[in-house]
Amino acid sequence: MGRIAYVNGAFERHGEAAVHIEDRGYQLADAVYEVWALFDGRLADPEGHFARLERSLSELKIPMPMSRRALTVVLRETVRQNRVKDGLVYLQVSRGVAPRDHAFPTDPVSPAMIITVKAIDRAAAEAKAAKGVSVITTPENRWGRCDIKTVGLLPNALAKQAAKERGAAEAWFVDELGFVTEGASSNAWIVDADGTLRTRDTNANILRGVTRYTLLDLIRETGMKVDERPFTPAEAKAATEAFITGAGALVLPVIAVDGAPVGKGVVGPVATRLRRLYIERARETAI
Ligand code: PDD
Repeated sequence: MGRIAYVNGAFERHGEAAVHIEDRGYQLADAVYEVWALFDGRLADPEGHFARLERSLSELKIPMPMSRRALTVVLRETVRQNRVKDGLVYLQVSRGVAPRDHAFPTDPVSPAMIITVKAIDRAAAEAKAAKGVSVITTPENRWGRCDIKTVGLLPNALAKQAAKERGAAEAWFVDELGFVTEGASSNAWIVDADGTLRTRDTNANILRGVTRYTLLDLIRETGMKVDERPFTPAEAKAATEAFITGAGALVLPVIAVDGAPVGKGVVGPVATRLRRLYIERARETAI
């Protein structure tokens, strides 16, 4: 059986699923999205992703297309129809379909919603995590509301492509003061020489990563020290370890920044442990 997509109330064959040409998400990036990791066919970190979806929509004055409970049913049904155990669920909600105009439609329109599901090879993901990945840095050039998870991802896409062309897995944006904000699709972390974990605070113009929050809870439970404070690429190179977090990356060790090794240039014990702890917690709490 092939992949199935949910499109505005219907389950359709993935290859044929389509949205209207005047969907405001398509024309104006007037849309938000969420991504859940799937463990054994269940949604990881459900509460954090639902809460952020509601917040992103409310910041853009787009109504929730359905209740959280109904949305959970639809998400799980889409996962079930795709028969995916390990993977990612993508949800996108746009303001809807209306004749092209920058201002919101004057006649009320219903939000448009699509869901897709992608399988992930967990064994390959674990092998990648065991080796670690490289990142590059690139000047921050995104808008000032990166806390809203909109589909306006052109700077992120260009940064990720630049990373790929240089053999790296992620690009870290660096603000005008020289501090790393976050990755193109992940949050950025380092481990200081004294073992303190460091990641940028959420007053900065970054996405409030759900994986980041769950990991902060886990770190505090283990008694490890953590400091929500920005770091520079130079500090990352001088750190003992670095890693990125996100629904796709989970906790992924970073072994080089702009071609320079982080610490000994190999995957370290802190990131390895945090990846294991995160996956355990995500499995326990997935719905
Ligand atoms: N990206 N920062 C950015 C810019 C992101 O796009 C993401 C997630 C994160 C991590 O957030 P979370 O832990 O809630 O997944 C941080 C998703 C996975 C994506 O765009 O596919």
